[in-house]
Amino acid sequence: MSGSILSRHIYLVGFMGAGKTTVGEALARELSVTFTDLDHFLESETGLSIVQIFAELGEPVFRRMESEALLRLSQTPAQVISLGGGTFCRPEAVEALNGAGITIWLDCPFSAAMARCRRDHHPRPLAANEAQARILFEQRRQFYSQAHLRVATGDRSVPAVLHDLLDGLRWLGEPKAAP
Ligand code: S3P
Repeated sequence: MSGSILSRHIYLVGFMGAGKTTVGEALARELSVTFTDLDHFLESETGLSIVQIFAELGEPVFRRMESEALLRLSQTPAQVISLGGGTFCRPEAVEALNGAGITIWLDCPFSAAMARCRRDHHPRPLAANEAQARILFEQRRQFYSQAHLRVATGDRSVPAVLHDLLDGLRWLGEPKAAP
C-alpha cells in the first residue's frame, strides 16, 4: 500500500493458535510497517523462553513483563503487534490498548486453535491441558469481544483473513493517505 501511512498501532488479540503471528506478519508486509510478536520480543529482551519465564518466574511476573513491554512498544512508530493470548484479558489492558491503537480479534473456534497449537510445536504452558485451555477460552471471549474489529480465522486461508482485515481497517479509516 504505497502512498499510505498507518497512524496508529494495530494490535492483534485472540486465543493461542488463532493465527496472530502468521496473520500479523502478512498484514505488516501488506502495510509496509514493522511487525512485532510480543512473545518473541520478550524472549529476545530477557534471553529466556516463555516456558522458562513461566516456570522460573511465574505467570504474575510474565504478565507484568508483558505490560511493561507493551508500554515501550507503544512509543515506537505505528506498527503491527501480535499479543499473547492472555495479554488483552484484563479490564485495564482492554482500556489501555483500545486507547493506544486499533485492536483486532482473530476469532478462531477452540478445536482449530488447539489443532494449530499442536501443529506449531511452539510450547505453550497454558495449552498443555486441553480441559483447562477450554475454560480459559470461554472466560477470555468477553475480553476479546471488546476489540474494535473481529475477523474469523479458523481454517480460512491467510489471504482470505487478510482481505477481511483490510476491509475492516478501511472502514476505520486506516491506513491514511500519505501527505
Ligand atoms: C499465553 C499465550 C501465549 C504466550 C504465553 C501465555 C496465554 O502466546 O503469551 O504462553 O495466556 O494465552 P500465543 O497466544 O501467541 O500462543
